[in-house]
Amino acid sequence: MYEGNKRLFLALWPDTGVRRRIKKLIPAGPGRPVPAANLHITLVFLGNTHGTTAAQLINRIDRLHPRPFQLTLDSAGYWPRPGIVWLGMRQAPEELLSLVKSLRKCARQSGLKIETRAYRPHVTLTRKQREAVKEDEIKIDWQVDHFVLVESVADDGGVVYRVLHEWLLKPDH
Ligand code: 2AM
Repeated sequence: MYEGNKRLFLALWPDTGVRRRIKKLIPAGPGRPVPAANLHITLVFLGNTHGTTAAQLINRIDRLHPRPFQLTLDSAGYWPRPGIVWLGMRQAPEELLSLVKSLRKCARQSGLKIETRAYRPHVTLTRKQREAVKEDEIKIDWQVDHFVLVESVADDGGVVYRVLHEWLLKPDH
């Protein structure tokens, strides 16, 4: 797929409409807001990954055939240490949890060391925010019909995400 290592993660990538709605909820400073183009939900963080391993992982994921599902972003929270303000779900859909379980398994089978902590699905809105931001009445419906493999590239003080591969979620026929 490529030579050497890249910093990778698997993610749900919002379409333009959902991205625009999420963007409106990014609180104003003093934190470091996530650029609208970078908003996503991480499925599995892979870290530094060799091209051969990434190719193997892609082959394994190709065999999964997960179904499309809907999620609703309906809660916000704050993790004080990294100062992260995030959007999440009161109730994560079973399909999402099961997708993450399968992807973690594919990653481990490809030789990657994946964290074993409980999965906390979220969209990071801001980092280094000093205090929690109160958000009421959040309801963003997101029809999940694909997920992606993303490369994270450091770029003068920030980060640029490049989508390297995409999987479509197809309903049963
Ligand atoms: P975050 O948004 O909560 O910071 C790319 O770095 C994506 O992978 C981010 O969404 C980040 O989550 C997530 N991620 C999960 N575990 C990570 C780790 N150990 N290091 C860096 N990013 C991680």
